[in-house]
Amino acid sequence: MTAEAQTLSHQFFVDTWTVYKKIVQGNFMFHQEIYQSVDRLLKERDPAPFSLLDLGCGDAENLHPLLLRRNVAHYVGVDLSVVALKLAAEHLQNLQLKVEFQVDDMLHFLEQEDPRTFDVIFSGFALHHLSPTEKRRFLIAVKKRLTPEGEFILVDVFRDEGQHLPNYLDAYCGKMATEWRTLTKEEMDYAITHVREFDTPDTLKTIEILASEAGFTRFKTLDQYTWHRLIQMA
Ligand SMILES: C[S@@+](CC[C@H](N)C(=O)[O-])C[C@H]1O[C@@H](n2cnc3c(N)ncnc32)[C@H](O)[C@@H]1O
Repeated sequence: MTAEAQTLSHQFFVDTWTVYKKIVQGNFMFHQEIYQSVDRLLKERDPAPFSLLDLGCGDAENLHPLLLRRNVAHYVGVDLSVVALKLAAEHLQNLQLKVEFQVDDMLHFLEQEDPRTFDVIFSGFALHHLSPTEKRRFLIAVKKRLTPEGEFILVDVFRDEGQHLPNYLDAYCGKMATEWRTLTKEEMDYAITHVREFDTPDTLKTIEILASEAGFTRFKTLDQYTWHRLIQMA
């Protein structure tokens, strides 16, 4: 993990996590619908215990109820932020399964020498922070870390086809300003600044091409709410 990444992560958690929790509570990024669908996907694996790697897990609060219900035998959460993983450890402390956390950059974690593979790799609203080159490396590394019957469940924001990044950012931030009503003006300014500084989502087509180049043969959008999507790859 670079010093810059560490600083960004610390900043994100100390300054914006409360705002992010309000965004989740307001369901402005469609966490409720999307995580219900993730639950349905995981349920299909319930007949046998399975392992789950969560990349950019944050405080793991959204996955917590799913981990309680589903037949997950081993959960590994990876995040840049020590603060996030401390909260995640508190949320998951009473689960009857093997839980591990790793403070790391998710790309570094995936690419390091480690023979472990996972039945399910999940990433929620984290991939759009990576550069195009990093996204390519990320998908290649995810494919290598899946068991033969494994799947990658990706939740993220995507630009519309033909929509350039500045136009996406204007449109997304415009919607935030008019629809994310429970945020105070200060919180809204903070959230918009964060999106404009750190969000670099690609189009679905771009990610689909990168996934295909990485060796994924199945790629399906299961849910879409404006720019927020749930994708299943295998
Ligand atoms: C918007 S939060 C999403 C949290 C949770 N996965 C969810 O779906 O609500 C993004 C998380 O990704 C983490 N993150 C961003 N870039 C990362 C990276 N390169 N490596 C590891 N974690 C990263 C942030 O620290 C943050 O916890």
